[in-house]
Amino acid sequence: MDSKVTAPSSETLRTTNVLFCMLIFLSWVFAATASVSYDNKAVLINGRRRVLISGSIHYPRSTPEMWPEIIQRAKYGGLDVIQTYVFWNGHEPSRGQYNFQGRYDLVRFIKLVHQAGLYVTLRIGPYVCAEWNLGGFPVWLKYVPGIAFRTDNEPFKWEMQRFTYKIVDLMKAERLFEPQGGPIILSQIENEYEIVEYEIGHPGVAYTQWAAGMAVGTHTGVPWIMCKQGDAPDPIINTCNGFYCENFIPNRNYKPKMWTEVWGGWLMKFGGPTPYRLAEDVAFAVTKFIQNNGTYFNYYMYHGGTNFGRTSGGPFITTSYDYDAPIDEYGLPREPKYTHLKDLHNAIKQSEEALVSTNPIIASLGQKQEVHVFKSKSGVCAAFLTNYDQQYSVKVRFGNGQYDLPPWSISILPDCKTEAFNTAKVRKKTLSMVPWSWGFSWESYNEWVGTASDEGSFVVKGLKEQVSVTWDTTDYLWYMTDITIGGDEEFLETGRLPFLTVASAGHALQVFVNGQSVGNAYGSYETPKLTFSGRVALKPGVNKLALLSSTVGLPNIGLHFETWNAGVLGPVTLEGVNDGKWDLTKWEWSHKKGLEGEALSVFSFKGSSSVKWTGGSSLAIKRPLTWYKTTFDAPEGNEPLAVDMISMGKGEIWINGQSIGRHWAANKATGGCGKCSYIGYYHETKCQSGCGEASQRWYHVPRSWLYPKGNLMVVFEEWGGDPRGISLVKRTT
Ligand SMILES: *[C@@H]1O[C@H](CO)[C@@H](O)[C@H](O)[C@H]1NC(C)=O
Repeated sequence: MDSKVTAPSSETLRTTNVLFCMLIFLSWVFAATASVSYDNKAVLINGRRRVLISGSIHYPRSTPEMWPEIIQRAKYGGLDVIQTYVFWNGHEPSRGQYNFQGRYDLVRFIKLVHQAGLYVTLRIGPYVCAEWNLGGFPVWLKYVPGIAFRTDNEPFKWEMQRFTYKIVDLMKAERLFEPQGGPIILSQIENEYEIVEYEIGHPGVAYTQWAAGMAVGTHTGVPWIMCKQGDAPDPIINTCNGFYCENFIPNRNYKPKMWTEVWGGWLMKFGGPTPYRLAEDVAFAVTKFIQNNGTYFNYYMYHGGTNFGRTSGGPFITTSYDYDAPIDEYGLPREPKYTHLKDLHNAIKQSEEALVSTNPIIASLGQKQEVHVFKSKSGVCAAFLTNYDQQYSVKVRFGNGQYDLPPWSISILPDCKTEAFNTAKVRKKTLSMVPWSWGFSWESYNEWVGTASDEGSFVVKGLKEQVSVTWDTTDYLWYMTDITIGGDEEFLETGRLPFLTVASAGHALQVFVNGQSVGNAYGSYETPKLTFSGRVALKPGVNKLALLSSTVGLPNIGLHFETWNAGVLGPVTLEGVNDGKWDLTKWEWSHKKGLEGEALSVFSFKGSSSVKWTGGSSLAIKRPLTWYKTTFDAPEGNEPLAVDMISMGKGEIWINGQSIGRHWAANKATGGCGKCSYIGYYHETKCQSGCGEASQRWYHVPRSWLYPKGNLMVVFEEWGGDPRGISLVKRTT
C-alpha cells in the first residue's frame, strides 16, 4: 500500500489535543509532586503529608553481607526511613584518596534501602560525633595548616565544603535523591552544633550561617535538617535529639516537628555500665511525641552494630555499638523491644491520615489522665489516651468505651474506638549466647619490649604528643630513655626503691624497666588523663625505661576536641636517687611508633609466618605484650558468632587479617551500675545487675569474614591474659 499523507480527521485531532493536554497536565503534576517538601505539619513526599518512622543504621558498623537482612528486618519492624551518617574518615583516609568499597560502599547501601522500598535520611555532617573515631573527621584534617574544626575557619570550611560536595555529587550521579527517583528524602548538615555555637559565640553564629548556605547551595532537591540547632537558618529545619522530645518546638511555625534521635538506648564505654532502656518507655516517649504534633521520629540506634578495627571514638567507647537497639549488634531482633515497637508503628500507621490532617484537641480524663483527639473534617478520627501516673493503673471512659491504662502509658485508638496498642503492654522473649566450642590450640609470640637504641625510632629532647607522631595509624607509641645510676654524686636511698611518676594525657600506659613490666595505668571516658606512680627497681649503671602509651579511640565530642592531646607529655619524675627529685621530662627521649607485630602484620596469613610462635608447654600465659594465634573451622549453621574474651586483658583481635576491634575486660565502674535505665525523665544509675563484670565480654565475628576451614584468629594482649579461656559462641534463641 502506498503511504499517503492524509489530513487528520477532526476525531484524531481531538484525541491528540486531549492527549497533549493530559501530557502537559501530567508533567505539571509530576513536576509539582515528584519532590520532597514540608509544611508546619509534616514532611510531604510527592505532595502528600507523611508520618515517617525512621531508624539509624550505620553502614560501616555491619558488613555488606548483613545489610540486606538488617534492612528487611527494619522494614518488617515498620520503618519507612533508614537514617545514616556519612563517615568521612572511612571515605577519605588520606586526603584526595577515596574509599567507597566494602563496609564503606555507601551507594550500595542506599540502593539496597531503595530496593527494599524504604527512604533514606542522609546525615552528611561531615561532623558526625557518633562515638566514632575523631567524630568522623580524618586524622590528616587535624594537620592542615591553620585549621580549627567546626568554626568560622577558612581551611576547615574549605575541606568541609569539598567533602560535602563530593558526597552530594556522588548521590546525584547515582540518581539517589528523591526528585531523581531515588530514596533520599532529607539531608543533614553539621550535627548538634548549637552547644558549640553557644560556647564560642560570634564565630559560631557565622559558621552556622555559612554551613546552611553552603548546604542549600548544593541544590539536592530535598530539604536539609540541622539537629539540636535552635537558630537553623531558613529553609533548614531544626530537629530534636533526646530521650523525650514532646515539648520541642521548631524555630519557625512553618516547619514540622521532627525528632532525629530517639535515644532508645545508650552508648557503652570500657569500664562503664551496660545501658538499657525499657521498650515500654521508648514506646511511651515516641507516642507522647506523636500525640503532640510530631510527624517524623528516628530511633538512634535501630541497629547499632560493631565498631570494627579502631573505628570507635570516645576515647574508651567499646567495640560493641549495640546500643540496646531493636535490632541487636548481631543483626537479630531484640525482644521484646523489636516487636513492641513494630506493634506501635502499626498503630501509628493506622492513625496516619488523622495525624497529618489536623491538630489534636486535648481533654482531661482524670487527675493525671488526658486524651488527644485527632478528628479531621473528612471524618477520620484517632485518639491517644494517656496515663501520666507513674504508679497506678486507671480505668478511663472515652466516647462509649472504657479503657484500662497501666501506669505511665498511652493507648492508641486509630478509629477513636478500638485500642490497637498500649505502650506498657509488652510480650516477652529473649536471646542468649550459647557456647559452641572450646579448646582452641593457641601459640604465642612475644612482642619486643622497647629499648632506646632500636631502629625506626627517633630521639628528641622532651616528649612528643602521641597522635602527632602516629597520625593514628596505630594505637601504640613507645617513649624510651636511659637512666644512668653511677659516679660519686649519684646514689640510691638505702632500703627503698626509687619512686617513678609518669603523667600522661591518655589513654593507657604500661611501664617497663629493663624489659620488665612494672605496672600500668589508664584513664576513663570522663578523664582520659592518667598518672602512673610506683617504686621501680634500678641498678647501678644504665637502666632502660620504656613507656608504652596506647590510645583507645580518639575523641569525638567536645569543644575543639581536635586539639586534645594523647600520650606521655610529662611531667616524668624520679625520686629517691640522690637527695632530690629528677625531672626526666626534658631529657632525651627515643620515640618509636607501633608494635613490631604490627609492622610485620603477624595478624595476617602471610605475616604470621614471619615470626616464630611457640605452643604447648611454652605457651606464654599472663605475660604482657604477647601475640596469640590459632586456626579454627567455621561452626556449622548461620547463627551470628562472637568470641568470648572473658579470660583476657586488653588489646585487639583479628580474624583472617581483619580487625574485629579492641578488646578490654575493663570492669564496670564500681559504684556505677550494671544496667542503666531511662524512665520518666530520670536517669537511674543504681546498680541493677552485673556490677563488677567486664563492660564488654563478647566480640562479634562476622560470618562473612570466615572460610569454612582454616580460619586464622590472632589476639594481641597488652597486659596479660590466658587464651585458653577464649571461646567461640553463637547468638541464638
Ligand atoms: C499542635 O500544633 C498547633 C499549631 O502549631 C498548636 O496550636 C498546638 O498547640 C499543637 N498541639 C500540641 C499538643 O503540641
